[in-house]
Amino acid sequence: MLSHAVAALRCPVCQGAFQLKEDQPRSLACGAGHTFDAAKQGYFNLLTGKGTVFEADSADMVAARYRFLEGGHYSALADAVADVAEGVLRRPDALVLDAGTGTGHYLRAVTAKSGASAVGLDISKFALRRAARLNPEAANLVWDIWRPLPMADHSADVVMVVFAPRNPAEFARVLRPGGTLVVVTPRPGHLAEIAARTGMLGIEDGKEERLVDSMRAHFASGDSHTLDIPLLLSGPEVADLAFMGPAGHHLHSGQLSGLAESDASTTTTAMFRISVFTVS
Ligand SMILES: C[S@@+](CC[C@H](N)C(=O)[O-])C[C@H]1O[C@@H](n2cnc3c(N)ncnc32)[C@H](O)[C@@H]1O
Ligand SMILES: [Zn+2]
Repeated sequence: MLSHAVAALRCPVCQGAFQLKEDQPRSLACGAGHTFDAAKQGYFNLLTGKGTVFEADSADMVAARYRFLEGGHYSALADAVADVAEGVLRRPDALVLDAGTGTGHYLRAVTAKSGASAVGLDISKFALRRAARLNPEAANLVWDIWRPLPMADHSADVVMVVFAPRNPAEFARVLRPGGTLVVVTPRPGHLAEIAARTGMLGIEDGKEERLVDSMRAHFASGDSHTLDIPLLLSGPEVADLAFMGPAGHHLHSGQLSGLAESDASTTTTAMFRISVFTVS
C-alpha cells in the first residue's frame, strides 16, 4: 500500500518522516515543511533542484523497453525474481525497494505475487511515468542511486536491482537485519547475436566475481542461479531490445530503422544470473 511505503521514506533535505497529503496534487511533506508534489502521472521527483550529471534514459528508450517487456519475452525472468522475493516478503507489512525500477515491469511481478508494499526508484522521469501507471500503489521516486537513499534505516525486507546500478552500503542500510538483496545481471554470451550487430556492450568474463567482491563488505552471498531464455525476435523487436539498454544512448536512428525494417527474424538467447545476498 502507498501509505505503508510512505512511512519508510525520509525527506532528502532533513531526513524527517513524510506525511502523504491527499490534496490536488498529492504531496509528500515532512515536519520541517519540505514538500514534494506528485507529477500528474503519480510519481514524486525528490531530486528537484539538485540537478544531475547523469544521462537518464530518454522517452524513446523507455518506450522501447516498455514495448519489449510487455511483449512477455522476459516473463520467465519476472517470475523467477518474484519467486525469490516472495519467500522473504511473506510477513505482514513487508516492503520491497526496486532500485532502478525502469518501467516497473519486474516490481509489478513481485508485488502481484507477494502483496508487499513497494518503493520504486529511478533517475529517469520518463521511466517513472510508466512505472507509476504499472504500479500505482508503489511510491515511485525520481532519485539517484549514488546518493543516500531517501529511506529510513532497516525499512525494507527486500532490495531488488535488475540491470541497474548498485550502491551496496545504502542497500545494506535500508534493509532490515537479515534482509535480502536480489541482483539480476546478464552473463557472458547474453544476446550475443544481437550485440554483435548493434554495438551493445559485451558482458566481460569475471563479472560475477566482481559483483560478489563489491558486496562483500556489507552482504553475505547466498544462492545464485542462472536463467537462459531462448528468443526468436522480429526486426522491430531486435531494434527495441538494442535501444532499450545502455547502448541506446549511442545508437543512431539510421542503425535502428535498418534493424526495425528487417524482415529477417533473429534467434538469440538471453542469459541471466539471479544472485541473492543477505545483510551480514
Ligand atoms: C537497463 S535499465 C533497467 C530497468 C528495470 N530494472 C528493468 O529491468 O526493466 C536501468 C535503469 O536504471 C536507471 N538508472 C541508471 N542509473 C541510475 C541512477 N544513478 N539512479 C537511479 N536510477 C538509475 C535507468 O534510468 C534505467 O531505468
Ligand atoms: Zn524535510
